[in-house]
Amino acid sequence: MKGSISAMNKKTIVYAAVVMLVTVALLPACRDKKSTGLEYARNMYDPIAYNQDQPTDKKAIPSFNGQTAQTPPPNTDPIGFDRYELPNTKEGYEASATVVNPTTLTKETLLEGQHLYKVFCSPCHGVKGDGKGHIVELDKGISGVPAYFGAESTSSRGGLMKDMPAGKIYHTIVYGLNAMGSYASQLTPTERWKVVAYVQQLQKQ
Ligand code: HEC
Repeated sequence: MKGSISAMNKKTIVYAAVVMLVTVALLPACRDKKSTGLEYARNMYDPIAYNQDQPTDKKAIPSFNGQTAQTPPPNTDPIGFDRYELPNTKEGYEASATVVNPTTLTKETLLEGQHLYKVFCSPCHGVKGDGKGHIVELDKGISGVPAYFGAESTSSRGGLMKDMPAGKIYHTIVYGLNAMGSYASQLTPTERWKVVAYVQQLQKQ
């Protein structure tokens, strides 16, 4: 009997110790509601370098705006960023008509344009550019996609699709139009011009 009582006591002591430990571990969480509590090996998920949006000590570096990522100086462009000056307005669209394709037309650029067209444009515009992409055919809510060619296919902004100049096609890729979204973040300026060159081939059908 004696033996089993001390065994029970042992169990109670272990149980009490566990409860106490858990309580102590959880207590810090009550202090600060935003606290993530006990974190193991913090620097494994916190980078040593500053995060872009991390606040910086404004007093230590007065010229800083209070965060690591600084506002770029006026009239500067980030490396690799190509500014497109024409605005997303009717005037901007009309002005884009005179912008020329700076990419040299070669077999390679056309092939790349074709590939990018297939990936980004053909779901709606169709592989042949007839406006009958699979999204349109499956009736998934996209309609009114104009064919790039033909004597009847017109742009909703006026003019025949087959006569649309390169600049206007580029402008459409940058800003999108109604149901068509912008493809500026998916395609670099050079890639956009390659797509334009390929669309111009489709216009000639
Ligand atoms: C989600 C479907 C969709 C995708 C993807 C799409 N388009 Fe369009 N596109 C449309 C629709 C719809 C219109 C007609 C918009 C209107 O006139 O209201 C259109 C119109 C156009 C026009 C005519 C613009 C004008 O001024 O009338 C051009 C040029 C064009 N798209 C090029 C492209 C190119 C190049 C791509 C690929 C980078 C592309 N589109 C991807 C749906 C799409």
